[in-house]
Amino acid sequence: MKGTVHYEVKDGVALLTVDNPPVNPLSAGVRAGFVENITKAENDPDVIGLVLTGAGRSFIAGADISEFGTKPDGPGLDEAFKKLEFCSKPVVAAINGSALGGGLETALCCNYRIAGPAAFVGLPEVNLGLLPGAGGTQRLPRLVGPAEALKIMLTGMHVSAKKALSMGIIDEVSDDLVNDSIKFIQEKAANTENHPKVRDLSEKVVEARGSDNVLIEARAMAAKTRKGQFAPGKIIQCVEAAINLDDFDDGMKTESDCFIECLVNPQREAMIHIFFGERAASKIADVPKETPVKDIKKAGIIGSGTMGGGIAMCFANAGIPVHIIDQDEDNLKRGMSVIEKNYQFMVDRGRMNQEMKDGVFGLITSSLDYQDVSDCDIVIEAVYENLELKEKIFKTLDEVVNKDAILASNTSGLNVDSIASVTNRPDKVVGTHFFSPANIMRLLEVVRGSQSSDETLATVMSVGKKLKKAAVVSLNAPGFIGNRMLFGYTAQANMLLLEGALPHQVDQALEKFGMNMGPFRMLDLVGLDLGWRARKLSGTESALPSKISDQLCEQDRFGQKNGKGFYNYTEGSRAPNPAPENEDIYKAVSAENGIERREISDEEIIDRCILALVNEGADIIEEGVGQRAVDLDVVYINGYGFPIWRGGPMHHANAMGMKEVLNKLNKYHELTKNDTFKPANLIKKLAEEDGKFGDAPAKEDRKEKLSFEKSSVAGNL
Ligand code: 3HC
Repeated sequence: MKGTVHYEVKDGVALLTVDNPPVNPLSAGVRAGFVENITKAENDPDVIGLVLTGAGRSFIAGADISEFGTKPDGPGLDEAFKKLEFCSKPVVAAINGSALGGGLETALCCNYRIAGPAAFVGLPEVNLGLLPGAGGTQRLPRLVGPAEALKIMLTGMHVSAKKALSMGIIDEVSDDLVNDSIKFIQEKAANTENHPKVRDLSEKVVEARGSDNVLIEARAMAAKTRKGQFAPGKIIQCVEAAINLDDFDDGMKTESDCFIECLVNPQREAMIHIFFGERAASKIADVPKETPVKDIKKAGIIGSGTMGGGIAMCFANAGIPVHIIDQDEDNLKRGMSVIEKNYQFMVDRGRMNQEMKDGVFGLITSSLDYQDVSDCDIVIEAVYENLELKEKIFKTLDEVVNKDAILASNTSGLNVDSIASVTNRPDKVVGTHFFSPANIMRLLEVVRGSQSSDETLATVMSVGKKLKKAAVVSLNAPGFIGNRMLFGYTAQANMLLLEGALPHQVDQALEKFGMNMGPFRMLDLVGLDLGWRARKLSGTESALPSKISDQLCEQDRFGQKNGKGFYNYTEGSRAPNPAPENEDIYKAVSAENGIERREISDEEIIDRCILALVNEGADIIEEGVGQRAVDLDVVYINGYGFPIWRGGPMHHANAMGMKEVLNKLNKYHELTKNDTFKPANLIKKLAEEDGKFGDAPAKEDRKEKLSFEKSSVAGNL
């Protein structure tokens, strides 16, 4: 059985140490260890109390997520927790690191809780499509009140030891955790008769009875931040039971029923797929685990625009000093003032205090002189998309920046090998494609140039982790992963418009499917004029899907930036209002291109847009541009607003069944005659084998097949 619990007796106290590296989840061996060692401590006349702690960096990271959906061995959590809660001797949890989910629930079954200064607690099950199912929904409201407990459970937030102390989740914070916990429990065992149990507290839940305010607020919060998710409603239902049911065990019964409902819901599988997927994506199949990682003590950013400023904030937030260079003093002043305002906004919203703001903002310096980034360990160029300009910057950086430093380009689509070729260190050049706003969006596409070294890649992936990004590797190929998939998706949305749908119908259908923002709202946000100007400059005729956008731009409809695009906007508002005046444009462009407009169903809208992602995704995997299917899911969820509870486009296709995917592709290929729907070889093969997109890395290295010149996806968006 996986995991164990060590037992030793120190000065009359049994010290139980959970050992299940790296983060001590409650696997079968740990649960069995609880039952066995608590019994041992109870039966040992020399033991007066127990200290429960974790080995390594974690206390307990929760239930073993890999066991969900399987039949676990050994005693269940309920048996192990009963043993703990009804132990005949007092128990203190010595929380040495992360106590998450079942980890905090373990601590809540102890009589007392002491934490180390760097420890943190939380109930993040909601991020896995679950609810705290080992008493968390019943015990935490009793300890901190239903409103705070709901906030912790619905956000999945981590609560620092200091905050947990002020909230009453823990009793003390200690620098010498295990020794102090031993002394603490000796003192309690000697001087206290009745040791508190959280289950016996009722004041805070009874106080909340008779008013629905807390639950109404929680529902509003869940609707806003967890759109389409199943678990939040169930969490609220459990807290409602905690408030209204007198008997603790009746509340536990509600929790258990709701937990099972979440467990069997497909959202749970989808969200756990993403949990493991994000961790898998951070590993590069042919870069050995033991590859040395460079220590990044200082970062440099070239360009103080929206992207540069956002990236600088990511480094500062991670505690890494960062220096921004711009060639224009006014731009630099403006850029620094935007960063300052962003931090001030967080202070105003109570997300950080003035001291924290001063600390992080103080890590960001700026100047006009490239020499000031010469001592950086990584420099990220974040200027606008122009290959010549980027090459010029890289030449300069190569000359001035310390020879071991990594040079990265925040390009969203340019050839990283071309950029690397102007330097004398192509092995230290990569793409780091951040998404806007970079300080908020979690996705980081790491673009692997043909000469990027293992050390460079391993270092950039570890930087991604430090910056709290979901980092995914893409080979250096047109559009990388995300934008290449997006191309077909956006093209289909535009084709649907040409064939008879209206922007709000397309957006509403896809938003109902779960997309954060429909494609036309997104295009309006990005600005229609960017693509239009690029197409005009290239002098070639626009492809069919871009023709409506072009016409809108000809009529000065550029999107949100000037208050009119596919929608109309009132000043100062981002809310889209229908623009009936555009309908004549749509009709005219359809007619000019010989397209007969027709009624289009929501089902067709969803199928065509989402299958465009899936079909392109299959080619991306087969070509080896993305390592594995789940990498593409991680990209779409963290960078493009795909609903996490559907597990990403490739997982969605798996859930649909590959035969069904193939049938639909054939149907839409027949209907549209568009190659977007010509089934990818991988899909045909999987449909034949009754297979699924797998999570294993692509075996073959097909780098040589990729040609940057074959298309320019980014310019077509
Ligand atoms: N179960 C199984 N494996 C887990 C796990 C868990 N609860 N938590 C982490 N792991 C694994 C990861 O998959 C990873 O495996 P890998 O090395 O093979 O890729 C390894 O442990 C290390 O994890 P991280 O890379 O995430 O390590 P970090 O140090 O960056 O983060 C952490 C540590 C903050 C604890 C983070 O792992 C985390 O958030 N874990 C999940 C916490 C969670 O959601 N707990 C709730 C579980 S559900 C539950 O408890 C139900 C209960 O209410 C009944």
